[in-house]
Order: sequence, then C-alpha cells, then structure tokens
Amino acid sequence: MASDVSRRGFLEVAGTVVAAGAIASVGTANAAEQAAVGKLKIVGVCCSPRKGKTTAAAMQMCLDAAKSTSPEVEIELIELAGLKIPGGVAAGVPLEPGEKDDFPALAEKLGNPAVAGIIVGTPVYFGNMSSLCKAFIDRCMIFRKNNFVLSDKVGGVLAVGAARNGGQELTTQSVLAAMLCQEMIVVGDGKPSAHIGGTLVNDGKDSISGDEFGTATARNLGRRVAEVALLVKRAR
Ligand SMILES: Cc1cc2nc3c(=O)[nH]c(=O)nc-3n(C[C@H](O)[C@H](O)[C@H](O)COP(=O)(O)O)c2cc1C
Repeated sequence: MASDVSRRGFLEVAGTVVAAGAIASVGTANAAEQAAVGKLKIVGVCCSPRKGKTTAAAMQMCLDAAKSTSPEVEIELIELAGLKIPGGVAAGVPLEPGEKDDFPALAEKLGNPAVAGIIVGTPVYFGNMSSLCKAFIDRCMIFRKNNFVLSDKVGGVLAVGAARNGGQELTTQSVLAAMLCQEMIVVGDGKPSAHIGGTLVNDGKDSISGDEFGTATARNLGRRVAEVALLVKRAR
C-alpha cells in the first residue's frame, strides 16, 4: 500500500524507532471517531524558547478569540519551550544514544482528526522564525510523507518582534509557506485588520498588552481560523 511504502520510507530516512510510535497513531482516527468527538479543536503551537513570555501571551489571546467564536471550539496551547525537537531527524540524522525527542508525542496530538486548526506562533529572530519553530516545521515532514495528515486543517500564524516592522510579516509568510506545503488551508487575520496574520510588538518589558493594533490582529487571527475550520467541518 502506498501509505505503508511512505511510512517505511520515512522510517528509513528518520532512522528512529521513537518516530514509529507516532507514525502508527497519526491520522488513524476515522470520520466516525471524529464525529463522536463532536468538538472542533484548535491548537496553538508556541515556538518561543522562553516559556510564558510574549509569544505565549499573544497565542493565548488568539486562542481565546477562537474559542469565543463558537461553543463547538476547544483550544489548547502547546509551548515548545523546554522540549527537545531535534530538527535533523527530518533529514535522516539519527538520534544520539540517549538523546531525547519530544516530537513524536506532539505529532500524535497534531495529527488527530479532531484538530481542525493549527496556529503557529513564533518570536521574530533576525527577520525570521526561531530555530525551535524551524525544527518543529522540519519535523512536520512526517505528516507530508504519511499521506498529508495535515491536509485541510486550517493554519494561521502570529509573530512577535521587539520592533514594529521588525520582520513580523516576513516571519509569518515563511511559516505560511510551510503550511501550504502540507496542503493546509491557510488564513490571515480576519477583518477588520485582515492582513497576513498576527503581528505583535513586545514593548521591551516583555509585554504586548499595550500593542492595541497587534493584539487585535492576534484576536482576529484566532477568530478567522475558527470560522474557516467551522466552514470546513460543515462542508464535510
Ligand atoms: C536572537 C534574537 C533575534 C531577534 N531578532 C529580532 C528581529 O529581527 N526583529 C524584531 O522585531 N525583534 C527581534 N528580536 C526580539 C524578539 O522577537 C522579541 O523580544 C520577542 O518578543 C521575543 O518573544 P518571546 O517573548 O516569546 O520570547 C530578536 C530576539 C532575539 C533573541
């Protein structure tokens, strides 16, 4: 079977038994299981290496807006801070003996059909995403190789920088490009702001609360992801 072939191919490339557990469970729930769940889940993946800081705060705002869109919507914030996600595994570099890999557990969660939307949040580092975000995105190759598990999930992105025009939109576009490669349905922040996604500014004291424009884009993004995820659910 094609999926078995790609699964075997991935495992050869990944060279890791740990990933096998995730592969086996990713995307295995069928439509009936999904219907039984009833709720529609939107997951926010926060890719700052600093736990609970500005990117996490922006993501929480975004997810709260998603949840307030409909009682059907459930949310979950996942912070990658402190997790070990070796990016090289995606290119076939085996784990070192004893090296920790937290990606398979994360993959299992994201691949669940009940997850209808994924919002990625990253700090802006030199006009682009954090290395943690890139490692996460590279590891998501497993979904593409496993018959496009993320296909038709709705994707949105927010970025937090220390400067207004510090590269938030460039960063957002980079992540959106990766989502397109997964056959996800990508959206920006909904109206009235309606641009590329969430674009926020850290005030220099690790707060975003005074950024009226940026926090509005985060909320509009969450609402838009939820609205489109609901549309997709009803169209099935
Ligand atoms: C290595 C590094 C590079 C950065 N580069 C940029 C940048 O290009 N543009 C910008 O606006 N902010 C930049 N910043 C600032 C962070 O994006 C900003 O402080 C952000 O709020 C950090 O997110 P966090 O609070 O979730 O960790 C950089 C910070 C670091 C550590």
